[in-house]
Amino acid sequence: MRLQGKTALVTGAASGFGEGIARAYAAQGARVAVADLNLDGARRVAGEIGGIALGGDVSKAADVRAMVEGTVSGLGGLDIVVNNAGWTYSRQPSLDVEEEAFDKVFSVNVKSLYLMARAAHGAMKARGGGSFLIVSSTAGLRPRPNLTWYNATKGAANVITQGLAQEWAAENIRVNAICPVIGGTGLTSAFMGMEDTPENRAGFLATIPLGRFSTPADIANACVWLAEDASSFITGVLLPVDGGRCA
Ligand SMILES: NC(=O)c1ccc[n+]([C@@H]2O[C@H](COP(=O)([O-])OP(=O)(O)OC[C@H]3O[C@@H](n4cnc5c(N)ncnc54)[C@H](O)[C@@H]3O)[C@@H](O)[C@H]2O)c1
Repeated sequence: MRLQGKTALVTGAASGFGEGIARAYAAQGARVAVADLNLDGARRVAGEIGGIALGGDVSKAADVRAMVEGTVSGLGGLDIVVNNAGWTYSRQPSLDVEEEAFDKVFSVNVKSLYLMARAAHGAMKARGGGSFLIVSSTAGLRPRPNLTWYNATKGAANVITQGLAQEWAAENIRVNAICPVIGGTGLTSAFMGMEDTPENRAGFLATIPLGRFSTPADIANACVWLAEDASSFITGVLLPVDGGRCA
């Protein structure tokens, strides 16, 4: 059990990559807080893995503080945070994106990191260190057209990862980003800007050398490694989990 004795808060864990990460963490012995805007979904996942469910919006300061407090009081501390919750508008020409969607994508994908950093730092420091993970994207490393404002949120996430890694190293809090290539989740058709069908996937698959989309298990495996002691000298990395897309 690679995460025995550790406690983890995973946001956006009612679905997609976050659900996969929460399941993998529990399978490796961690106690997991499953946080999501979708509280029913969070309860379902938490019930299946023996974790606790927390509702809330990662773009709201009071909700993020409550997620951290709920984890500390429910699980006894905070060793691992996975900032996974994210959102995108549907792929479209960038000049067509409405201001409301621009504000939302930056609130959910970027402001959430500021809020979580402030809320979680003290609790992680009190444990003598920990692992603060950000689910970013290849969109922040090798952006595709027609998702520009979303891509920019992941570029910001990458820079935040590198900055916090340096600031928090003295406290033994490691900060790393996982950069998935497109995968099969609740957001897939929005990223594609069309229905997720085998025909519509073909153009995306052609850009991924290993020839498939990412899966929640791919992302979860990387998140287990970045949270366990085996990666104790790794901080500030932007790890593509992308079948060679960024190579
Ligand atoms: N699916 C992909 O192709 C892909 C590729 C690269 C990166 N990502 C990133 O992976 C992360 C997870 O997304 P996913 O693809 O698993 O999508 P998903 O829609 O399946 O899961 C996202 C989860 O986040 C929750 N959520 C959304 N807004 C929230 C908020 N404001 N507060 C709390 N919870 C909220 C949703 O309820 C949902 O359960 C996102 O950060 C996304 O940008 C996804």
